[in-house]
Amino acid sequence: MYDISKHKIKAEPLILGIESSCDETACAVIMGRKIIADKIISSASEQALYGGVVPEIASRAHTDAVDEVVADALKEAGVRPNEIDAVAVTYGAGLLGALLVGLSFAKSFAHALGIPLIAVNHIRGHMAAAYLDKPDLKPPFITLLASGGHTAILHTKTELEAEVLASTTDDAAGEAFDKVARVLGLPYPGGPNVQRLAESGTADVEFPSALARHGGGSTFSYSGLKTAVINYIHTAEQRGQAVNRANVAASFQRAAIDPLVKKTVELALNTGASTVTAGGGVIANGYLRDSLKKECLSAGLELVLPEKRYCTDNAAMIASEGLNQYLAGNFAPLSINAKAQIPLK
Ligand code: KG4
Ligand code: ZN
Repeated sequence: MYDISKHKIKAEPLILGIESSCDETACAVIMGRKIIADKIISSASEQALYGGVVPEIASRAHTDAVDEVVADALKEAGVRPNEIDAVAVTYGAGLLGALLVGLSFAKSFAHALGIPLIAVNHIRGHMAAAYLDKPDLKPPFITLLASGGHTAILHTKTELEAEVLASTTDDAAGEAFDKVARVLGLPYPGGPNVQRLAESGTADVEFPSALARHGGGSTFSYSGLKTAVINYIHTAEQRGQAVNRANVAASFQRAAIDPLVKKTVELALNTGASTVTAGGGVIANGYLRDSLKKECLSAGLELVLPEKRYCTDNAAMIASEGLNQYLAGNFAPLSINAKAQIPLK
């Protein structure tokens, strides 16, 4: 009988994290906030052949990789399965078939060892990456979240609670990077390729800012920006004019990122928070990182910026959010199901 009601909460538990929401099968082991193993097997190169993530290919790749990635992480950590105190796993949001692979594995692992299962919201995982960078980080702070599915600025009030101060009304920032990559003829994954192209260009085109004019100045809109880039390229093509793709990439990147950085600093100053953190794949963008560092420094704000590999999908961030839930005793029943969507409250 699986009964974790008598589990004694430890201050510095060994948590095994598992992530399989998209195209990375990942496993990490953390002790407290210290990462002692971190492994990723990615199907990105296979997905690139199709120009994006094919859900069925992702599910099959996770099935092939999950045993190996967990075994590798345990080996790197030098830890036996029965020394793990809890298993934290992404249960949503993401591709349902992909999520089910990691979730089923985590349930079996928890059940076999009689340890707590912790169900982690992927987005809260991205937000918890900051604790890995600064283990003694304590809320309150302002979090800039920018991934393939979400774009928001949140006021993180406690380890378990955050208020959304600004968000996007349509596309997420990462989604815009991926769509613009496609019209620029760049391969999947779009974001890093747009960044690379932008590095050799000059931002000489005035695209509309991603900060929507309506919504009290705290609403982002990426759909208009994406359409403006598409129209710019099509119009030039129809007129037989050459398009400087690097300049378009640099101009788009500036229009997509400057408002995120500006709004984050503004909201931090308005709320009186002295610390800013960030998470999500777009935070791996070099232009964003440089700009956020510069603006936080000049505003006198402390910036906790996770390493690039902890901004894109990984299991250490899932284990880190798992620790927040573990310390609060928030354990999941084995009957928990995967969820394709979880609203950002
Ligand atoms: O957080 P993430 O790995 O997965 C989701 O939870 O969505 O974010 C993936 C998104 C993709 O849209 C990808 O193009 C974008 O993050 N991304 C970047 C960069 N690296 C990843 N966008 C801009 N510049 C980058 N260097
Ligand atoms: Zn993600």
